[in-house]
Amino acid sequence: MSVKINENYLLLKSSYIFAEINRRVLNYQNDHPDADVIRMGIGDVTRPLPWAVEREFQKAVQGMGEVDKFHGYGPEQGYEFLINEIIEKDYAPRGIQLDESEVFISDGAKCDTGNIQEIFSLKNTVAVTDPVYPVYVDSNVMAGRTGAMGDDGRYDKLVYLPCTEENGFVPALPQEEVDLIYLCFPNNPTGTTLTTEETREWVDYAQDHNSIILYDAAYEAYIQEDNIPHSIYEIEGAREVAIEFRSFSKNAGFTGTRCAFTVVPEELTGWDSQGKPHDLNPLWNRRQTTKFNGVSYPVQVAAQAVYSPEGQREITESINYYMKNAGIILKSLKDIGLRVYGGVNSPYIWIKTPEDMDSWQFFDRLLEKPHIVGTPGVGFGPSGEGYFRLTAFNTLENTEEAMTRITKLQEEI
Ligand code: MLT
Repeated sequence: MSVKINENYLLLKSSYIFAEINRRVLNYQNDHPDADVIRMGIGDVTRPLPWAVEREFQKAVQGMGEVDKFHGYGPEQGYEFLINEIIEKDYAPRGIQLDESEVFISDGAKCDTGNIQEIFSLKNTVAVTDPVYPVYVDSNVMAGRTGAMGDDGRYDKLVYLPCTEENGFVPALPQEEVDLIYLCFPNNPTGTTLTTEETREWVDYAQDHNSIILYDAAYEAYIQEDNIPHSIYEIEGAREVAIEFRSFSKNAGFTGTRCAFTVVPEELTGWDSQGKPHDLNPLWNRRQTTKFNGVSYPVQVAAQAVYSPEGQREITESINYYMKNAGIILKSLKDIGLRVYGGVNSPYIWIKTPEDMDSWQFFDRLLEKPHIVGTPGVGFGPSGEGYFRLTAFNTLENTEEAMTRITKLQEEI
């Protein structure tokens, strides 16, 4: 007898995009120890936790060492104090009513968007925008919901919805019937958004086809313009067709601390092979209670502090800081004649590579000349080929320095 592996893993690209970038950058740095590399690749925040958050976090951690303040296992779904804060501060002001049982606290939108597919049959057809956050695709490949990747960079059986300069990075509705649709707005990686009317078209599609939208709103805090929904539940009828993922990572600096949440409305329904309807909320609850023991108490206390007036003031400051960087990147790159997108309601700037360079060629060029690390667009899917992503998640000084170097070296890149 011998152990058999899950062969679906063999269908995946050999490494996750950000691991591959890291590998290449480390190699480069080994060979060029004097190169002062500025990292604008992975979307990791650089500003520390807000002071108001850190203070409450510390107190809760201290309490963990005291008999009467110690907390063991908490509810797998999260503590009521945080769930209620989310409902009252994030959703109620937008006219969205949620029940406590509909909000599930977790350790990350990456985990939740990767895990959610477990409650759905392998027989579902999945649609993704292209380029796309790789977790949606890879988690479905691992589960066995796709075939192999073709020469065109597309997995068999997955429906790709191209988002390119030609369509303004707005995906067209699928031509075929699809069951699960991953949408992320403000978009990672293109930084573009959908208007309320455009989002409504997706909700209508999902209602007409009994589909479920898996809506990743991890970057909603970066929305600056009007008429862009912060939550898909701002659209009438979305409670019947959408699961929403949110995170404290990008708004409050929790990329290392880990806290997020997923909303699974009670109205959501899926069908078994006999055609019998089932609520999705208890399925997700069952999944979480079996495989997850909740986020630690101090982290949830810290997340609650994000909603305090001081916490809100500080996170607004951080978002403004990153958006100033985004503005600098947009302007500098436009000034040297590059075609750039995003960066207005998002910390991501999406660049059309110059001179028809492919994404990895441009990656190498930026690493070797101005020593700047970005993310090759093709790492997010075949329609990302010929594009490149920079993030605004850096210090103002590094952002300015990076743009000065690019501007100086513009002839060489
Ligand atoms: C990214 O760079 O796309 C993000 O950091 C990925 C993530 O949030 O997991």
